[in-house]
Amino acid sequence: MKVTVVGAGAVGASCAEYIAIKNFASEVVLLDIKEGFAEGKAMDLMQTASLNGFDTKITGVTNDYAKTAESDVCVITSGIPRKPGMTREELIGINAGIVKEVSSNLIKYSPNTIVIVVSNPMDTMAYLVHKSTNLPKNRIIGMGGALDSARFKYRLAEALGAPISDVDGMVIGGHSDTGMIPLTRLATRNSVPVSEFLLEERLSQVLEDTKVGGATLTKLLGTSAWYAPGAAVSSMVQAIACDQKKMFPCSVLLDGEYGLKDICLGVPVILGKNGIETIVEIDLNDAEKANMNESADAVRVVNNLL
Ligand SMILES: NC(=O)c1ccc[n+]([C@@H]2O[C@H](COP(=O)([O-])OP(=O)(O)OC[C@H]3O[C@@H](n4cnc5c(N)ncnc54)[C@H](O)[C@@H]3O)[C@@H](O)[C@H]2O)c1
Repeated sequence: MKVTVVGAGAVGASCAEYIAIKNFASEVVLLDIKEGFAEGKAMDLMQTASLNGFDTKITGVTNDYAKTAESDVCVITSGIPRKPGMTREELIGINAGIVKEVSSNLIKYSPNTIVIVVSNPMDTMAYLVHKSTNLPKNRIIGMGGALDSARFKYRLAEALGAPISDVDGMVIGGHSDTGMIPLTRLATRNSVPVSEFLLEERLSQVLEDTKVGGATLTKLLGTSAWYAPGAAVSSMVQAIACDQKKMFPCSVLLDGEYGLKDICLGVPVILGKNGIETIVEIDLNDAEKANMNESADAVRVVNNLL
């Protein structure tokens, strides 16, 4: 299992670190455009191998795509992150060019790879990779829902005063402050609906806190977060590498599912060795369906900027 991570910045390096620590991949190639940067990150990470007990070989390269050849999974994290006060959508001007160029270089050397798109605005960047590469739709996966769901579970556990392992919940829809849809109706504590424990008002607060989860961290850190994004990507790569058939909400090209077409949006999927094995259609109520359509409309506005 060879994994390439493009962008050795905050998210890319964190992703490489978690993949290595989980010890399921033989090789991780970190690639960055900044001279020597990926090499330095890779060397630093390799010097944690004996301490953290992993055998994954991490190498770093400066823009040398030949070294990424025959990657099973490629993760695209290259591009600028948002600063406090910015929306993810504002990044499109710079990131679209980067993602288009990077995806075409990756596919030249790894035509059979599965691509995980992380750069923002992620739903539009995943759509761009579809439009510009023509890869089969099971092999292009946008990461957003896995992270947003982890943030949702964090907020639920906080409100419940429960350990996170007691809590389950999922966020679908667009990966944006206004577009994401935390499914509070379906969230549970040990299979008991969370509405049994939390008043409507507290649950609404959890929902709002989840939606601005990224913006809250960007304000605190001065740039966007990296640990949870890196962990979310590494879990998705692991599900593919180990053919786990695990369910994650991911941004995928829809062709009629949820009544939507020609758009990448976050929906539950099963991840396995073929990338997206199945798109899972869950029964949404009328309010959730309306939210999904609204979220799709907002993503289409950004897609039209491409
Ligand atoms: N989808 C999500 O859930 C999610 C979560 C967090 C961050 N992000 C996004 O991920 C991206 C990266 O965030 P970050 O915090 O790691 O940023 P960062 O600035 O720390 O790292 C980005 C790296 O990309 C590199 N880069 C730029 N152009 C490149 C090119 N053409 N080829 C190769 N490398 C190139 C830069 O040199 C830099 O090292 C941002 O767009 C951010 O918004 C997405």
